[in-house]
Formats: sequence, structure tokens, C-alpha cells
Amino acid sequence: MPPTAVRLIMLLGSVFCLAALFVWLATPQPPSTPMPTPPLPPLRLPAVPLPPGADPASVALRGALLNGARIYQRLCFHCHGRQGKGDNNAYMESVGHKPADHTDLEAMQRLSDTDFLLALRDGVKDTRGWFTMPPWASVLTPTEMRDVITYVRHLPLTDVSGPPVP
Ligand code: HEC
Repeated sequence: MPPTAVRLIMLLGSVFCLAALFVWLATPQPPSTPMPTPPLPPLRLPAVPLPPGADPASVALRGALLNGARIYQRLCFHCHGRQGKGDNNAYMESVGHKPADHTDLEAMQRLSDTDFLLALRDGVKDTRGWFTMPPWASVLTPTEMRDVITYVRHLPLTDVSGPPVP
């Protein structure tokens, strides 16, 4: 091939590439559709005895439970399930790390609040030292951790058939 033809082919090639680049840059991006988030189920407060009236302790407990429920139903249900039964993550289950059933009163009674707090704060590792649950210390404040633990503590008493909390 004569050198002029080669140059011409190279020139045409680069012009084409430039044109393709311009077309690519000029094409408007399709608007990104946000991931559909599953609707939150109506919160149902655990059936803790809350006497009518303004007993400060029960009001504080109710506040902690509502806050804990809000956190659990946003951050924890992916693995632990909406009702805390640990049945919401087929992958974790398939690799042998099905989260415990938080509604199992007997199993949960074996763990103290400190166990819960440490698991939450520092995460939980398997025998190889890999996280099966990530640590939450950088996500949740100590008060939020306490509230969500209060909620987990009350899960065995949850009455999921009751009326939703307004
Ligand atoms: C990536 C999945 C995943 C997420 C998200 C997750 N956990 Fe866990 N969690 C686990 C696994 C796995 C364990 C340890 C194994 C088990 O539960 O048996 C665990 C353990 C725990 C424990 C220790 C007691 C227990 O059940 O053995 C508590 C308490 C706990 N999680 C609460 C929470 C809270 C509260 C959140 C939300 C802030 C949360 N988890 C988010 C997977 C997860």
C-alpha cells in the first residue's frame, strides 16, 4: 500500500473515532431510576405492658422501642428479617451464616445486653475471622444501639397480629 493511502486510512480512522467520541459525549444520559425500596410495613410495637397514663419509665421504653424499630426496619431487616426471624437473607443462609432467630426467647436469653452491644458495636466474625455481621459503631450512636437492642430484646414478645402503631 502506498504511504499516502495508509495515512489517509489512519486519518479517516481518527476522524471516525473522534466523531464516535463526540456522539457518545453528546448523548444525554438516561435519567437514573432510583432502586424501588420495599414499603415499610406498619410498625407494630412489641406487646409490652404500657399502663395508660404517663409513667415516665414506660414512656421512655415506648420511645426506645419505636426508635429501635425504626432502625431495625431500615438497617437490620436485610439479614435479620422484618420480624427478626433471621430468614431474610438466602445468601447468608446458603453459606451457613443464617442469622439467629431474634424472636427465639430461649436462645436470646442466653445472651446478655453486653453480648448484644459488643456484637453490634464490633460486628460478628466467623471462625476464619471474616465478618458475618458488619460492625455498626460508625453508623449508630450509643443511644441508637441501646434502643435497637431494647427492640431486639422485646422481639420475642412482639405481637405481630396486633393493630399497627399509629
Ligand atoms: C449482613 C447481614 C446483617 C445485617 C445487615 C445485620 N446483621 Fe446482625 N447478625 C448477622 C449475623 C450473620 C449475625 C451472627 C450470627 C447469628 O445471628 O447467629 C448477627 C448477629 C447479631 C446479634 C448478636 C446476637 C445474635 O443474633 O446472634 C445482634 C444483637 C444483631 N445481629 C443485631 C443486629 C442489628 C440491630 C442490626 C441492624 C443495625 C443488624 N444486626 C444487622 C447479620 C446481620
